[in-house]
Amino acid sequence: MTVSVRDVAIAAGVSVGTVSNVMNRPDKVAPATVARVAAAIEELGFVRNDAARQLRAGRSRSIGMIVLDASNPFFAAVARGAEARAEEDRLSVLLGNSDEDPAREEAYIDLFREQRVNGVLITPTSTATEMLARLRDAGVPVVLVDHEMPNSQFCSVSVDDVEGGQLATEHLLQQGRRKLAFVGGPASIPQVEHRLEGARRAVAEVPGASLEVIEMPALTVLNGRTAGEVISRREPAQRPDGVFAANDLLAVGLLQGLSIFGGMRVPEDIALIGYDDIDFAEATVVPLSSVRQPAQKIGHTAVELLLKVIENPDGEYERRVRFRPELVVRRSSGG
Ligand code: RIB
Repeated sequence: MTVSVRDVAIAAGVSVGTVSNVMNRPDKVAPATVARVAAAIEELGFVRNDAARQLRAGRSRSIGMIVLDASNPFFAAVARGAEARAEEDRLSVLLGNSDEDPAREEAYIDLFREQRVNGVLITPTSTATEMLARLRDAGVPVVLVDHEMPNSQFCSVSVDDVEGGQLATEHLLQQGRRKLAFVGGPASIPQVEHRLEGARRAVAEVPGASLEVIEMPALTVLNGRTAGEVISRREPAQRPDGVFAANDLLAVGLLQGLSIFGGMRVPEDIALIGYDDIDFAEATVVPLSSVRQPAQKIGHTAVELLLKVIENPDGEYERRVRFRPELVVRRSSGG
């Protein structure tokens, strides 16, 4: 007779939900209860459904991928690169959008584990460390995308965002701009923090240069437009003469906001540079300077690395792949 979760619950004197928590989130259950449930599992010889399924059948022919913002062309390009490599091995990519929300991210992590995907690619929110460890401990290979966790064993494919921030800011300084603004997003996004760090390093090298930070709630076109309005409504003497936007979506919005709310000319009145070099960057009314991340290559390489981890978790291969950012100069910064 097959032992069920209910049998375990009765034997341990707890609810079925507690048994499930002990199996999926033991850190959230009192140690004494964990011990009682574990003893009942052992005594009854209970085998979890997903464990049984894995014994009966191989994993699904799929890879789970969780991005921070599916509406951002950067992540669409990363996903396209991942899909191209996955298809070479007849694997599908299941895409989840966390919208920078840890709760949504956790739901996708649980879903991909239940779906028994071969592995997971993720651009994590800053709080994901514990969840990722649980995924790994559940035997699901993980590769971080566009983000690195130096003090972890996680493999990653990323870009040096500190260098990228320095490139963007040095370029504005080389155009003679001195009163700079960094328009960024929530401090919870590590990529944004690294870009800002690069900007600070560049400004520190130039006497008389200054850098103010304008933090927006999210890295979107609408928030960029709002930032443009904030800058435009200032007295001319209080306005920056150069802006580094943490990504191209913010920069596109800034182009709109600076023009609509203040009639400010880019680059004559204010130089502007973004980050990512999404396809639209060169198509904006004033073609956008940016710092290019090789998005499709990041996605392709991430799948390549994940397949190595699946095949040989402790193998001798490069576990942290880091690409160099590239400055792309167009009209918006005076190019
Ligand atoms: O998700 C916010 C940003 O982080 C994206 O635009 C991309 O630059 C990523 O690195």
